[in-house]
Amino acid sequence: MTRLSVITGTGSALPARRVDNDEMARIVDTSDEWISTRSGIRSRYFAGEGETTGSLATEAARKALEAAGIKGCDIDLIVLGTTTPDQTFPATATTVQQALGCNGGVAFDVQAVCSGFLYALGVADSMLRSGMANRALVIGAETMSRLLDFEDRATCVLFGDGAGAIVLEAQENDGEKPRGILATKLHADGAHNELLFTDGGASTTGTIGKIRMSGNQVFKHAVQNLSSVLKEVLDMSGTDASEVDWVVPHQANARIIEGTAKKLGLPMDRVVMTVDQHANTSAASVPLALDAAVRDGRIKPGQLVVLEAMGGGFTWGASLVRM
Ligand code: UT7
Repeated sequence: MTRLSVITGTGSALPARRVDNDEMARIVDTSDEWISTRSGIRSRYFAGEGETTGSLATEAARKALEAAGIKGCDIDLIVLGTTTPDQTFPATATTVQQALGCNGGVAFDVQAVCSGFLYALGVADSMLRSGMANRALVIGAETMSRLLDFEDRATCVLFGDGAGAIVLEAQENDGEKPRGILATKLHADGAHNELLFTDGGASTTGTIGKIRMSGNQVFKHAVQNLSSVLKEVLDMSGTDASEVDWVVPHQANARIIEGTAKKLGLPMDRVVMTVDQHANTSAASVPLALDAAVRDGRIKPGQLVVLEAMGGGFTWGASLVRM
């Protein structure tokens, strides 16, 4: 018998305010044509007063618990990927824990920017398989709008807010096609951290800073890193790309998603795309897209799904999952 971490429920949450490209063009010198052609983005959601990373994460987590048919008190581990925590400390995961009434167990945040959900998934999967926990909530939640410089048109049009969550449960499997996380590969390369960063932080400026990005350089690294890490997880599990039912990529740019799929010979009708609606929600992007495709019936139990993301650091990673 092998102990594997199985996704038993998904959920997501978006702020109330939807902002389309025409509205962005009233804030900065841009156009719907430029944004949609360069990135595929048509709208994003911005958190309003009272909407926080913690509140969005809690709503997404509640929906994932409901889908899994369990309660907050059944959870003994919460790992939350975010780069926009409610406070510098305590971890936003503990705010979610308190809101869900699942006190006890373990709760902490993981900071790997856009790869935050993949990193959180990797950590939670390791803890479940080792027996340190049995039922986890893995969450990606962000309020990236609070890090945007609304005078920098090259960055402020690209990001949005939201949250996605999954329930991950340890199960003993001995079947031929076991459900669960089958392979995960994570990477980081700090040599490139000047290409995507915030110009502030708790120990330097005492402020949170604003996003600064060399977009076209990030773009080139993204296609290269994502296609190679996807290949790594497929090789680790002896899986051919043709066996993959769905790719759920990080939603930063439609051209990055298309370029990565092309390198691996994966047809676009097997790729989940939500960047047009949500823009880049950093750590929230993969679980938001996953939940959308599970709820509309595209992703079904038993299917083989690859999740991937890349972000500041650089950090990047991928995970192969049988749903
Ligand atoms: O999650 C991981 C993090 N992020 C990413 O993966 C993003 C990666 N990068 C990208 O998605 C793309 O590089 C962008 C969408 C950011 C930009 O596309 P690009 O084709 O690389 O454009 P560019 O940065 O080379 O800019 C082209 C032009 C420039 O004008 P000039 O110098 O050619 O006259 C910019 O000033 O577009 C101009 N520009 C804009 N024009 C209208 C930059 N931002 C805007 C804007 N509206 N919002």
